[in-house]
Amino acid sequence: MNEAISRKVYLNDYKPFGWEVEQVSLTFRLSPRGTRVLSRIAFRPREGGRFFLHGEGLRLISAAIDGRTVTPEVTDEGLTCEVPDRPFLWEAEVEIAPEDNTALEGLYMSNGMFCTQCEAEGFRRITFYPDRPDVMAPFRVRIESDLPVLLSNGDPVASGKGWAEWHDPWPKPAYLFALVAGDLRAVRDSFTTRSGREIDLAVWVREGDEDRCGWALESLKASMAWDEREYGREYDLSVFNIVAVDDFNAGAMENKGLNIFNSALVLASPETATDRDFERIEAVIAHEYFHNWTGNRVTCRDWFQLCLKEGLTVYRDQQFTGDMRSAPVKRIEDAAMIRSRQFREDNGPLAHPVRPEEFIEINNFYTITVYEKGAEVVGMLHRLVGQNAWRAACDLYFERHDGQAVTIEDWLAAFRDTTGRNLTQFMRWYSQAGTPRLSVAEDWDGQTLTLTLRQHTPPTPGQQEKAPQLIPVALGLLHPSGPEILRTQIVEMTEPEEVVRYDVGALCKAAGLKTERPVVSALRNFSAPVMLEHDQSPKERAFLLRHDTDPVNRWEAGRALSRAALTAMATGGDADPQAWLEGLEAALTDETLDPAMQSLLLSLPSEDDLAQSLADAGEAPDPLAIRHAVEAMQDHMAETLEPVLTRAFEATAGTGPFRPDAAGAGRRSLHNACLTLLTRRDEGTRARETFARADNMTASLGALNALLSVGAGKDELAAFEARWQHDRLVMDKWFALQVMRASPEQATEVAERLTQHPQFAWKTPNRFRSVIGTLAGNAAGFHHPSGAAYDFFADWLLKLDPVNPQTAARMSTAFETWRRYGPERQARLRATLERIAASPGLSRDTGEMVARMLG
Ligand code: ARG
Ligand code: ZN
Repeated sequence: MNEAISRKVYLNDYKPFGWEVEQVSLTFRLSPRGTRVLSRIAFRPREGGRFFLHGEGLRLISAAIDGRTVTPEVTDEGLTCEVPDRPFLWEAEVEIAPEDNTALEGLYMSNGMFCTQCEAEGFRRITFYPDRPDVMAPFRVRIESDLPVLLSNGDPVASGKGWAEWHDPWPKPAYLFALVAGDLRAVRDSFTTRSGREIDLAVWVREGDEDRCGWALESLKASMAWDEREYGREYDLSVFNIVAVDDFNAGAMENKGLNIFNSALVLASPETATDRDFERIEAVIAHEYFHNWTGNRVTCRDWFQLCLKEGLTVYRDQQFTGDMRSAPVKRIEDAAMIRSRQFREDNGPLAHPVRPEEFIEINNFYTITVYEKGAEVVGMLHRLVGQNAWRAACDLYFERHDGQAVTIEDWLAAFRDTTGRNLTQFMRWYSQAGTPRLSVAEDWDGQTLTLTLRQHTPPTPGQQEKAPQLIPVALGLLHPSGPEILRTQIVEMTEPEEVVRYDVGALCKAAGLKTERPVVSALRNFSAPVMLEHDQSPKERAFLLRHDTDPVNRWEAGRALSRAALTAMATGGDADPQAWLEGLEAALTDETLDPAMQSLLLSLPSEDDLAQSLADAGEAPDPLAIRHAVEAMQDHMAETLEPVLTRAFEATAGTGPFRPDAAGAGRRSLHNACLTLLTRRDEGTRARETFARADNMTASLGALNALLSVGAGKDELAAFEARWQHDRLVMDKWFALQVMRASPEQATEVAERLTQHPQFAWKTPNRFRSVIGTLAGNAAGFHHPSGAAYDFFADWLLKLDPVNPQTAARMSTAFETWRRYGPERQARLRATLERIAASPGLSRDTGEMVARMLG
């Protein structure tokens, strides 16, 4: 890595910009190879200092101050210039080449369309500007181009043949700037706000995609109504535009009034999108819309505060999905994601606080820790203060900071001032990295149950010492005959060790039950993002799986049982899946249970989760042994549960016309889960029939998945390709599924063969991820002892890196778990990382990642 470009930025070095930007006017003369950008920026001095504007890859044509030509000093990172000590007008003209922009940051092209991605620091690739979130200004934009559709932020002002003008009255940081120009089609709708303003809504897509926009529009209207109802937040412009773009590094972007989406997260029809896709689209549309208040009207002072907008907005989209669908199911899915993917990050070399304090490349910190753990922290705060104070504090936050760029301290101050609570210890959730271990020890004397709670957080890179966290531990007690004798109560743990006592005799008496040792249900609803260490017997877990009133812990009890059985099987130990299978059978025949919940109970921990569990227990995981264990368990489940699975499969078949609602999705999810298991016993008969009859993507993909997972499905795969070859989004699924379901021996070969496919467009991030990224998701294939996958994966990362560093760096996290494996794999993984690190010209993005992973 080049020293000059690997400079670290520190939270503690924050200094405000010396000038205020009062107004920005931009004119774009669009052309693929030579776009001219003219800027007129009104600056007003505050503290002054050295006048520096960011700028990267710009050809400066001219610059002037108050109409007089100036000659600034230009470097790789920007320019400096002598400026007067009074308000002045800066004017500059630069030239850029959107067509050559493969990094997909700044202004670039996708299928003949111009589009932008400026978060976090992409605006500096468009023109010279103080490209930092605490500089907020109203923008006027004029676009000149022959393309028919010309869009930017805010409200449309005027347009004519070959030009259009936009005005965004709300002061915003440059990272929220957006521009789109292309031959696009609009699908329109409208929304009337609660104060009676009518908003024009539009989704802009390529010709031919118009019939796939309905769901995004429905989701948008639902989000707008929800934010008014739940947070009193109304939309603030006359139009809201969404654009679908095929080449996009991330999922979507909340640019003011002009959200830009990865087309995979907007376009949906029953024939081409799965239930999962519909649910994700609904959630991401909501997420970006909610940013209008949490992120745009109130933004971040600097990029260290990223979780201020992301953690809060993820929390809000989770609440929304819970309200639109099933709250318990959503909570289980979120808890499962944290426990597998966030804990993986938090327990490895890339661990960082929810609010990091240093970085080299900010794009490397759009992580599951900042987003999802950030959302957990916000959720804890909500539960600690209660709904009324939550709403009051959010109102205060919006009122106090509207139009400002603020910090986590400001956010917490709104809660302190609303509730009078001291949140000093709570603040550690933002500053301390790593997952706290919470152990629960029980002591029973026949009358009183004593619980000793202990917490400790292991060291993480750069943070050796950890202080105790404020951990809200939700607990309940169940009588061994079934009923709950203590409803959920929250223990607010603040010390390394705390003791709680329950007079069980009295609780039993109050419930009219004989005094018996109760079963403890701890960390209900996943009340804090901690690893719970609570020794419970298989019998107690099976009991909780059947009787717990808390859905998350019911699911967790099942998970603990299957995890224990699978890790034992993977290490040649004594596996007793009996309790698990009995519990599962009871759940599958329980007619009061939601099919979505039954489907969740039926799912096994991922192979990566199992590897992590083994590593946590001090064993070097063998991904091949894990794969065999999972397959053996699936065979076992299919065999013992065949009659119940068959019944559930049949009961969930043919549910009428496809509707992407939670109830239908739950039934189809259970149907597919049963099909996958039954396919292990019927030679694929049911899956083939299902595939042949399928009239929606959830069903066809479910059937294809079931076939591929038993090594069948060749004809179906070919039929699928023949039918969908012209559909890029469906083809992404076709590519990914083959890599995901390839045997450990063949995975690299399959991926390699797919990279030769005429449709393997490796510069398009979705396609790259569907093949190369998916290989890392096939744990047994990726970690095959031949090491072929490591080499193949690294070669592709190195090929992508100069073209698109952001996506390459993100995918390098496939290697973050390298230290958990045995000596041979570790040696190979280290050598692979070292090879990447030593590669000449490595980007700052990937350079930072591999350096952190090597530690
Ligand atoms: N703010 C966007 C969102 O959360 C994500 C932007 C991703 N940008 C990046 N540089 N990784 O919806
Ligand atoms: Zn976001």
